[in-house]
Amino acid sequence: MKTFWWIASLATTGVLSKPRCRCLYDDPCWPNDSDFSQLQSKLSQQLISPVPPESACYPASNPSGNCTDVELNTSNGRWRSDQAGSMQSPNFETFIFPNGTIEACFLNTSLGFPCGQGIVPPIGVDARTVEDIQAGVAFAAKHDLRLVVKNTGHDFLGRSSARDAFMIWTHHLKNITYNPNFVPEGASESETYNALTLQSGVQWFEAYDAAQANGRTIVGGLTAGGSVGAAGGWISGGGHSAFAPRHGLGVDNVVQFTMVVASGEHLTANTHINSDLFWAVRGGGGGTFGILTSVTYRTHEITPLISIIFSGNFSSPAAAKDVVSKFVKFCPNISDLEWGGYTTLSNAGISSLMVAPNASWADVNATMDPLFNALHNASADAITLTTPFDGFFSWYQAIFPSGGQVGVNTELSSRLIPRETFADSEHLTEVLLSFQDGIMMNHVVGGKVSRIDPDSAGLNPAWRKALIHAITGGTWPEGTPVEEIRTLQQRFRDELSVLESLVPGGGAYFNEASLYEPNPQHTFFGDHYERLKSIKDKYDPSGLFIVVEGVGSERWDSSLNCMLY
Ligand SMILES: Cc1cc2nc3c(=O)[nH]c(=O)nc-3n(C[C@H](O)[C@H](O)[C@H](O)COP(=O)(O)OP(=O)(O)OC[C@H]3O[C@@H](n4cnc5c(N)ncnc54)[C@H](O)[C@@H]3O)c2cc1C
Ligand SMILES: *[C@@H]1O[C@H](CO)[C@@H](O)[C@H](O)[C@H]1NC(C)=O
Ligand SMILES: *[C@@H]1O[C@H](CO)[C@@H](O)[C@H](O)[C@H]1NC(C)=O
Ligand SMILES: *[C@@H]1O[C@H](CO)[C@@H](O)[C@H](O)[C@H]1NC(C)=O
Ligand SMILES: *[C@@H]1O[C@H](CO)[C@@H](O)[C@H](O)[C@H]1NC(C)=O
Ligand SMILES: *[C@@H]1O[C@H](CO)[C@@H](O)[C@H](O)[C@H]1NC(C)=O
Ligand SMILES: *[C@@H]1O[C@H](CO)[C@@H](O)[C@H](O)[C@H]1NC(C)=O
Ligand SMILES: *[C@@H]1O[C@H](CO)[C@@H](O)[C@H](O)[C@H]1NC(C)=O
Ligand SMILES: *[C@@H]1O[C@H](CO)[C@@H](O)[C@H](O)[C@H]1NC(C)=O
Ligand SMILES: *[C@@H]1O[C@H](CO)[C@@H](O)[C@H](O)[C@H]1NC(C)=O
Ligand SMILES: *[C@@H]1O[C@H](CO)[C@@H](O)[C@H](O)[C@H]1NC(C)=O
Ligand SMILES: *[C@@H]1O[C@H](CO)[C@@H](O)[C@H](O)[C@H]1NC(C)=O
Repeated sequence: MKTFWWIASLATTGVLSKPRCRCLYDDPCWPNDSDFSQLQSKLSQQLISPVPPESACYPASNPSGNCTDVELNTSNGRWRSDQAGSMQSPNFETFIFPNGTIEACFLNTSLGFPCGQGIVPPIGVDARTVEDIQAGVAFAAKHDLRLVVKNTGHDFLGRSSARDAFMIWTHHLKNITYNPNFVPEGASESETYNALTLQSGVQWFEAYDAAQANGRTIVGGLTAGGSVGAAGGWISGGGHSAFAPRHGLGVDNVVQFTMVVASGEHLTANTHINSDLFWAVRGGGGGTFGILTSVTYRTHEITPLISIIFSGNFSSPAAAKDVVSKFVKFCPNISDLEWGGYTTLSNAGISSLMVAPNASWADVNATMDPLFNALHNASADAITLTTPFDGFFSWYQAIFPSGGQVGVNTELSSRLIPRETFADSEHLTEVLLSFQDGIMMNHVVGGKVSRIDPDSAGLNPAWRKALIHAITGGTWPEGTPVEEIRTLQQRFRDELSVLESLVPGGGAYFNEASLYEPNPQHTFFGDHYERLKSIKDKYDPSGLFIVVEGVGSERWDSSLNCMLY
């Protein structure tokens, strides 16, 4: 492709033309004060200057900051999402120069590093209205800025930050509307949904409260404090949940979007109008087709459920192998029963949280018994629990209190493991037990997810054949020398190769994935890629919305700031 561009450019101009590069902060082309004051006059709020939250501990950088507050709340997802300049994983506030120098702002001031801006965008729009978003989009397009759309900052590939970029922050778009008889725009009056419409800054904890208040339940992300965004990156990438095997993924539960596209227009997309956009955004990835302003979801009837928890440390490698091989054989049953959950396992132990919606307690006990017995045999300290709950909300409140899960430098590798891979349980067991920091087996596919037409949404068809979304990865403390970070990153690449050979040519979840995917177009989108690309080109012909490993990103260099062809 690169060669092709070169020839084309020679043919039209006779010389190599300069590549198009974004205008970055402090470049001569960066908008001047009068440009910014023109933008300001169109906004409902003051322009913001995001800073890494840790700067509060450096009075010279951030004299008004409260360092105690940062120290107490650094691992709290809701607190982090409230800070414009905070990413949930601080490595996505950090910049590493090609020569290995790290520019960051470390919470631990004793490390003796100066506090730097890193890759936190230095200026942005605190959007409270659709018009704020339209003004921000028009401004970024006019000046050819590197545009970052940020909601909560949870992205595991750092797509909600970029060095010297311009940010549109959706966090404060918090409106929620419940309508038991929602009619999509363009639909006949008889096409109604019991639906909840969330503006794009709403987070799962707020959506769950609203669903409960209206006597309904909704499929969403499940994390400490419910801080993941309900109407931004989560839904655009697919949106998984322990309830997906029962009700489908996030993308299978959307009725309608509204969004601002690159032209500045505010569009509605559903199966009747702008249906190509509706198809693409359901799995084609966040920050790629435009900026969502709202998402309308189906709601579901509240049913009782049984919570399942088991964990134990293995007494020996043989014990590990015994339990994990039994667990592997059990995975197809879990998704066929439409149960979901999350299991982490390694040679050291296993730990699992599952949920059995609308199941009988006796049936759950009977199903779990063989696995529980194997675990007690393999682990002196095993815990095995089944507990009934009257509905989603009380379960969610008991299991996911607000608390620490984030604030740690993190990178992931992942694959959607298809059902057929479970046929050779011995090989699968061996591979699963080979990861240094273990592997997380997410029971968020199968069941209903497998019964939905793979071509009904832009989502990678690999999701429809998967039984488990598996994640490996690791973390490192701030201040780790760059050589050690590079060594660790090599380990993440190696782990990715192991997953790739387990599932040759397989797919992965766009939102929880590796930064080193050799062929992200295929891995994240499968044979939907070409169609996604043409829809992107239709709504964003100039490439305003580009994210790491996203649709259209192959036309840009590794910084995503200069176009290759
Ligand atoms: C602690 C934790 C728990 C998680 N749990 C789950 C889970 O249970 N299920 C699951 O599926 N995933 C989960 N994830 C992954 C999650 O789906 C992604 O991190 C996702 O990108 C979060 O979207 P966001 O809008 O909250 O975050 P952001 O980081 O703000 O945004 C993510 C991406 O979406 C884009 N974006 C944000 N808002 C908009 C918008 N309005 N319009 C268009 N693009 C937008 C951004 O540009 C960026 O590319 C988890 C992540 C973390 C860190
Ligand atoms: C600011 O830049 C704009 C172009 O973006 C230019 O038209 C204008 O003259 C500049 N204003 C000042 C005060 O430099
Ligand atoms: C700083 O934050 C702490 C913890 O949240 C709080 O108790 C304290 O009152 C804050 N100090 C100021 C000056 O706001
Ligand atoms: C930070 O955490 C402390 C201790 O948990 C809490 O009292 C405080 O309210 C938190 N600050 C914010 C802004 O949430
Ligand atoms: C690395 O490069 C950066 C940016 O050019 C520069 O500021 C820094 O001094 C360099 N560090 C070393 C050790 O050369
Ligand atoms: C901060 O860094 C110093 C110097 O490396 C180290 O001794 C100390 O334990 C660190 N503090 C915390 C809380 O990690
Ligand atoms: C916000 O929600 C309220 C009540 O649910 C609704 O009446 C109103 O129209 C919504 N406003 C916007 C801007 O969506
Ligand atoms: C397993 O060991 C860890 C420490 O290594 C401990 O925290 C945990 O409680 C143990 N038991 C279970 C059931 O996980
Ligand atoms: C108990 O565990 C051992 C391995 O530690 C295994 O060989 C044996 O088959 C297990 N017994 C039962 C009854 O599960
Ligand atoms: C899984 O389901 C199959 C078929 O229904 C059954 O034969 C098998 O015993 C089940 N396995 C476990 C571990 O429950
Ligand atoms: C829940 O299970 C009961 C008993 O099996 C059944 O009658 C009911 O229809 C189920 N409800 C839903 C929403 O699936
Ligand atoms: C399920 O098993 C638990 C013990 O793990 C027991 O306390 C409970 O009574 C059982 N429930 C039923 C309905 O059998």
